[in-house]
Amino acid sequence: MSLCGLDFGTSNSTIGVIQSDQAVMVPLEQHPITGSPETTLPSALFFDFHSDEISFGRKAIDSYTNGHFGRLLRSMKSILGSSQMEEGTQIKTRKYLFSEIIAFFLTSLKERAESFCQQDIDSVVLGRPVHFNDHNAELDRVAEEKLRTIAESIGFKNISFQHEPIAAAHDYEQQIKQEEIALIIDMGGGTSDFTIFRLSPSLKNKADRHDDILANHGIHIGGTDFDRHLSLATVMNQFGMHVQYKDKPGVEMPKHFYVDLATWHRIHLLYSRKTLWSLQDLRLRMADTRPIDRLLKLIQQKDGHRLAALVEQAKIDLSALPQTDISLAFLEESPSLSCLVTGRQLSDAIDHDLQRVFHAIDETLNQAELKPGDISTIFTTGGSTALHAVDQYIRSRFPNATCVQGDLFNSVGKGLVLEAQRRYC
Ligand SMILES: Nc1ncnc2c1ncn2[C@@H]1O[C@H](COP(=O)(O)OP(=O)(O)OP(=O)(O)O)[C@@H](O)[C@H]1O
Ligand SMILES: [Mg+2]
Repeated sequence: MSLCGLDFGTSNSTIGVIQSDQAVMVPLEQHPITGSPETTLPSALFFDFHSDEISFGRKAIDSYTNGHFGRLLRSMKSILGSSQMEEGTQIKTRKYLFSEIIAFFLTSLKERAESFCQQDIDSVVLGRPVHFNDHNAELDRVAEEKLRTIAESIGFKNISFQHEPIAAAHDYEQQIKQEEIALIIDMGGGTSDFTIFRLSPSLKNKADRHDDILANHGIHIGGTDFDRHLSLATVMNQFGMHVQYKDKPGVEMPKHFYVDLATWHRIHLLYSRKTLWSLQDLRLRMADTRPIDRLLKLIQQKDGHRLAALVEQAKIDLSALPQTDISLAFLEESPSLSCLVTGRQLSDAIDHDLQRVFHAIDETLNQAELKPGDISTIFTTGGSTALHAVDQYIRSRFPNATCVQGDLFNSVGKGLVLEAQRRYC
């Protein structure tokens, strides 16, 4: 029997084990193009309606992108802590609860790790955001309980939790040479979480680090929110978001369709007959039907996740390029339809959310009763810390701190394994 640290992320998940007394991240999948082993598994499932099989991670995304007949689900973690948790979703002939779907995904992670270390794994430290729900402590408690029940149902016997930024702090502590007051910033797909931690080479094996955690805070804003804002500010115009009623000038198409289409974990809600009927009805009443036809085609082809993935990729590309094109040729080939997206549009679209994230960092400092000048190191992890605006903010708010960029996708996972070793060995 053995232990693991499991980081169930909104966008990517990892699982790590101990081998020869070292934390090792499990290679979970091969990169479909390069063939290199990947220690992240995108948090995605694909239910194939022909074979009745479920695939996971990059394979799931590939099956969907290659047009296999079925249903893709992503960002299931966002449903934990939301009111959608008790609902299910119809997949082919059966209704599945979201807890069942999360269990399928976590089982696949656990099995990959068991096959890697050739033994059963019965003990887990699961990562969790500081808040599953920012406003409702009861929903937050229920979300953790739900995750615990799912972990039990898939065979874990010893289950405990650690806040994700604290796990990242444990990972960073492995490399330091002297005591530091570190601000850990973990911005992922669903949440942004922060810890201020007194780290020291001499403290790292201490069992109880409670006194060294000077502050711990988080906010439910992450990369999937940035995707939604970028989508609503740009590509949704091609689908009629601002088209007006023929008989009610100034009144636009109902916004909720576009918000669902731009929100990873709500896209499946559009694939109901009721939505299709409402949109067909609305089409007759709109001043411009062409973009609405495009929207109907997109929904009928169940291409919502494909569009969301293109928007996400545009956001990622904009960390290296001033502008990029989102190709919509899969909907209209000749002339080929596309949508130009600029870095300026991205920064305008996400500015409000980013300011809230930066305000939450200030609240973290207040919690610790510290000023920016008291922070010796900023350690960043999580994919969304690659955004230009985040780097600019850190350098201007903490000009005297040393900035250390951690492993964007594995730092939390490595820290969770170290925590599992501390708790269960
Ligand atoms: N270069 C980049 N620029 C901007 N965002 C990026 C970049 N690379 C990845 N991202 C975003 O990072 C997010 C995924 O990060 P990560 O894998 O750390 O999240 P997660 O751990 O799954 O989520 P969470 O911890 O919030 O549950 C996605 O929203 C992705 O689009
Ligand atoms: Mg994460």
